[in-house]
Amino acid sequence: MRDIYLLKFGGNALDGADGLRRLAHEVADLVEKGIAIVMVHGGGPAISAEMERLGMQPRKVAGVRVTDEAGLEVAEKVLRQINGEVVAALEEAGVRAIGLPGYFCTECERKKPYTALEDGKEVTVDLGLVGEVVSVDEQTIFDLVDERIVPVVYPIGGMAVDDKVQHLNVNADTMAAGIAAGIKCREMIAITDVPGILRDVHDPSSKIDKVTFADLDALIADGTVSGGMVPKVEACRKAVNAGARTVRMVNGRDPENIITDIIINGAPKGTLIVKE
Ligand SMILES: Nc1ncnc2c1ncn2[C@@H]1O[C@H](COP(=O)(O)OP(=O)(O)O)[C@@H](O)[C@H]1O
Ligand SMILES: [Mg+2]
Repeated sequence: MRDIYLLKFGGNALDGADGLRRLAHEVADLVEKGIAIVMVHGGGPAISAEMERLGMQPRKVAGVRVTDEAGLEVAEKVLRQINGEVVAALEEAGVRAIGLPGYFCTECERKKPYTALEDGKEVTVDLGLVGEVVSVDEQTIFDLVDERIVPVVYPIGGMAVDDKVQHLNVNADTMAAGIAAGIKCREMIAITDVPGILRDVHDPSSKIDKVTFADLDALIADGTVSGGMVPKVEACRKAVNAGARTVRMVNGRDPENIITDIIINGAPKGTLIVKE
């Protein structure tokens, strides 16, 4: 059995190019010690910025962005670029890394339309070209980590339509959890721009050290957990259910180190997500 650590980080998680360099050096030291690492990254803020620059109007239903052909094209272009930067930073730190689109190592399907409330009315939310992971080609990932290569996945999924592959935009947390489940990772660490789950989003000292699934239900129901934290929480749940021994959220701007103390010393950082 391989002990694989899956690191997911969002577009805002790291402090710019310096933050990425720091993370790359931590990954280099860990790989040197024989630890297997898979990375999945997002790029939400950069995608939104590029759409704005192109004058594209985001269409939202019940607060969630709908992805059409043009939006998918922008997402794909921006994510590919970020992916190149992540791989370059890792290589510069001495890591052998390979950038992969999600569709290279997963099968996805379109997220089914669901009902939600908008202005007090029930509406059907169809997110368009948005996907969810249904299966993972774990052998592709195992073959890479066995060679001490770090796969760096960006969240564009694919589904077979006739004999073509339709690409789909996938939330990076959702992609990470799908892969975490497929490879039965040892630990999933969601690196984000907050210290963990906060009781008050505006107060970093209100971090919750450990949450159970029941706690999470309550935190979502009363609105404490909202926005991008919701898919992140659901991704963590999925990873726990899939048997990841540890699942946590940590701050990518930690001035000391982001992941080393956790992986090497079992340091209690961030928010730990447990079943009960
Ligand atoms: N209870 C909460 N605790 C912490 N963050 C929260 C909470 N509720 C909502 N958030 C928001 O979720 C954000 C993290 O999600 P997101 O913006 O999608 O980041 P990422 O790029 O890491 O996926 C935080 O920056 C914060 O604004
Ligand atoms: Mg997010």
